[in-house]
Amino acid sequence: MQFKILIVDDEKNIREGLAASLEMDGYQVETAVDGDAALKRFRKGDIDLLITDLRMPGLSGEELLKRVVSETPGIPVIVLTGHGTVDNAVEAMRNGACDFLTKPVDLGHLTQLVKRELQRRELVLKHRRLEEELEHQKLFRTMVGTSAPMRQVFDTVSRAAPSKASILITGESGVGKELVADAIHDLSPRKQKPLVKVHCAALAAGILESELFGHEKGAFTGATSRTRGRFEMANEGTLFLDEIGEIDQNVQIKLLRVLQEKKFERVGGEETVEVDVRIVAATNKDLKAEIEKGNFREDLYYRLNVVSLLVPPLRERKDDLPLLISAFLKEFAAENGKTLEGIDDKARAALYAYDWPGNVRELRNCMESAVVMTRGSVITAEDLPPMIRARNDFGWIRIPLGSTLEEAEKIIIRDTLSAQGGNKSRTAVVLAVGRKTLHRKLAEWGENGED
Ligand SMILES: Nc1ncnc2c1ncn2[C@@H]1O[C@H](COP(=O)(O)OP(=O)(O)OP(=O)(O)O)[C@@H](O)[C@H]1O
Ligand SMILES: [Mg+2]
Repeated sequence: MQFKILIVDDEKNIREGLAASLEMDGYQVETAVDGDAALKRFRKGDIDLLITDLRMPGLSGEELLKRVVSETPGIPVIVLTGHGTVDNAVEAMRNGACDFLTKPVDLGHLTQLVKRELQRRELVLKHRRLEEELEHQKLFRTMVGTSAPMRQVFDTVSRAAPSKASILITGESGVGKELVADAIHDLSPRKQKPLVKVHCAALAAGILESELFGHEKGAFTGATSRTRGRFEMANEGTLFLDEIGEIDQNVQIKLLRVLQEKKFERVGGEETVEVDVRIVAATNKDLKAEIEKGNFREDLYYRLNVVSLLVPPLRERKDDLPLLISAFLKEFAAENGKTLEGIDDKARAALYAYDWPGNVRELRNCMESAVVMTRGSVITAEDLPPMIRARNDFGWIRIPLGSTLEEAEKIIIRDTLSAQGGNKSRTAVVLAVGRKTLHRKLAEWGENGED
């Protein structure tokens, strides 16, 4: 790591003498003639250590020190003091300087001091980077993925999460929209406050309205007391509206108002309630198409979609398969008390060849069933659900157009038999016919009917 040092002194000789010495030590050095110039340069960034004279025209060294330390806590600042002004140096240390040098400067001492402070600085920076890395891993711990499309998702999440902007997450069923919503909340300044989830499709229109906004006592039959809605529960936190495409027009209007004015009334109530809620919505519907059809309000769509986040289907990011597979294997092996070494090549090939219409959820279920089914310590293609295994295990059967039913049957039986290595019992199982039937047919065609 190459460090950059800024030296500030109004005396040219000192400035240049120190600079030359530190350059010889291998540092990058810049100089400034007074406090103002130094502060300007410092604010541009990338200075790792500051050496400043105390008494200078314009912005004094003391003042420069205070500003630099308050703007960049932890930055090492060494002050230079003239003879007999040790009191000033002590004061400077109190204000955040890490050490001082008296003039005339002992260059050997300077080298030592700078080396020590920069080593310390490097450790601090390394520690900070590690902490950031850990924090990132922690936040996305539940979300596996290193493919380019997923990195883009993580990047958008990291950038949008700290703001208050509404986020609309779209993507097919099972791609991980809810996990993305969790990550957004966890990465936001609201993470200590509640994340409240509402599955809009699961609730009938009337119920959804009172679920979201609460109701007053007597608002409808059965409303025996005032009840807070999810908006109030999510105050200062995040409200996740899942399957937003399913809400009816009435609720859409009310929702639009909350998004615009941050206010609403409980069902059957007059009192206006104000809330501070960050909205994250998700849908697997094409909302644009729903707007065209008149099912979804365009104004609401734009309010929700301040930041849009598309989670791509698994078939478009098969690079994520190895990580997802091993994460799920680990999870379900632990859950089932099994020790598993992994998955064999044939099984892996089958998982890659499959299209995953149910996305990550389907993969997760598939791995759970494989872990439960397997007898060995390695998952094989036979442990996978038939849907996934079928395509790969047996390849395709080609039947020429114009074949009769009998000819087609012959081809199906012969090809399956050959894919099963001539094993008639297994062929009968795959074709779901009795062994006797299979033998009879083979005998009819002049093939050996016996095993
Ligand atoms: N990147 C991922 N890493 C690990 N697990 C994932 C990932 N994406 C999704 N999952 C898992 O897959 C399942 C489905 O995810 P989730 O419920 O977030 O999908 P969804 O997009 O909300 O689906 P739906 O539209 O059906 O509600 C969950 O069990 C989730 O933990
Ligand atoms: Mg979901």
